[in-house]
Amino acid sequence: MSNNFTKQDFYFMEQCLLLAKKGIGHVEPNPRVACLVVHQAEIIASGYHSKFGAPHAEVEALRNITDPSILQACTLYVNLEPCSHHGKTPPCVDLILQNPPKRVVIAQSDPFDLVQGKGIEKLLAHGVQVDVGICEKDSHQLNAPFFTFHQEKRTYLRLKWAQTADGFMDKLRHANEKGAFGITGKTSQHWTHQQRASAQAILVGKNTVLVDNPKLDARFFDEHKKIVRYVIDKNLEIPSHYQIYSDDLPTVIFNAHHAEKGLKSKVKLDFSNAKIVLDQISAYAYAEGVQSLWVEGGAFLLGECLAHDYWDEIHVLRAPQKIGQGLTAPAVPTSAQLHKKSPLGEDTLYTYVRENAL
Ligand SMILES: NC(=O)c1ccc[n+]([C@@H]2O[C@H](COP(=O)([O-])OP(=O)(O)OC[C@H]3O[C@@H](n4cnc5c(N)ncnc54)[C@H](OP(=O)(O)O)[C@@H]3O)[C@@H](O)[C@H]2O)c1
Repeated sequence: MSNNFTKQDFYFMEQCLLLAKKGIGHVEPNPRVACLVVHQAEIIASGYHSKFGAPHAEVEALRNITDPSILQACTLYVNLEPCSHHGKTPPCVDLILQNPPKRVVIAQSDPFDLVQGKGIEKLLAHGVQVDVGICEKDSHQLNAPFFTFHQEKRTYLRLKWAQTADGFMDKLRHANEKGAFGITGKTSQHWTHQQRASAQAILVGKNTVLVDNPKLDARFFDEHKKIVRYVIDKNLEIPSHYQIYSDDLPTVIFNAHHAEKGLKSKVKLDFSNAKIVLDQISAYAYAEGVQSLWVEGGAFLLGECLAHDYWDEIHVLRAPQKIGQGLTAPAVPTSAQLHKKSPLGEDTLYTYVRENAL
């Protein structure tokens, strides 16, 4: 199991990671995975995990091979160790071994309890050359919630807000002025809905619901996606005709008074301080199997998350317009490292990770 990677190996694994990204918003809580079959420096087949419950990347790639005898002269590139257990689909490693390739190149081993190196061991036991550990940082970033959930036994926290060029996340409002104030454009909205779809729950504070009456769904990306809305509303002030209560998506209201299970659940928490509230929500999310919690605001909630170090990634959408006054957006902490700056239509997305996280 050497790790002498060539330039060609890096090129193909980068292509593999790009393909795996197509699963974002569709496959979670499964990891995003792709597989390439390479023969004489050419990709002759490829596949990716496209939907939760759908075939794994290796199955998709290998089903495109018409003459399996060619595989003995091929290298398979896959960003995550092939599975060795019976889940929703049979073990990928057994499928690979029906016509063993010459070599398998893997970015990372699988931390999932039922795999953890067993897929790699099986390939080696059948005489396949296996090389593990290429493009590990990019591969880890692609599946960070999955790795954090399985390795650190906690929910991964992603904070997001939109702000104007002069640093405001809402306009100045007159008393009782309601309704969302759109800061960003359509491309950013689509991206935001894709990110919501990739999380299993979205967290907001009470005022965001009272002011914006948001749906907090993923309709611009996938209108059928069921995401759980988490709302912090200590004294149950949000009226029952608001969308988070009146639609058919699940909502969990964290409050100080009442517990009730159902489509619109109420979970009673100790509200003695903001950090304790965040501790309890994190523990609740983990117990519910939430790998990734997407925190959208408002300013108070985001400020508390930042003050108590409750974040793994920060996403700031900066729009070009200035509004002069309004609700001040949170400051990105100095411990955050700019990972990526990407244009999204007329807006710019700034993605921050923890220093030394990559
Ligand atoms: N631009 C954007 O990306 C964006 C996104 C979302 C919202 N917004 C805007 O932000 C504004 C709302 O923000 P906001 O700062 O006023 O309020 P908020 O963060 O939405 O809600 C704050 C309230 O939620 C409860 N809360 C939140 N975190 C808590 C914690 N850790 N522990 C205990 N309670 C917690 C508290 O309720 P109690 O007072 O009941 O204790 C707190 O007063 C709206 O104008 C909305 O339009 C903008």
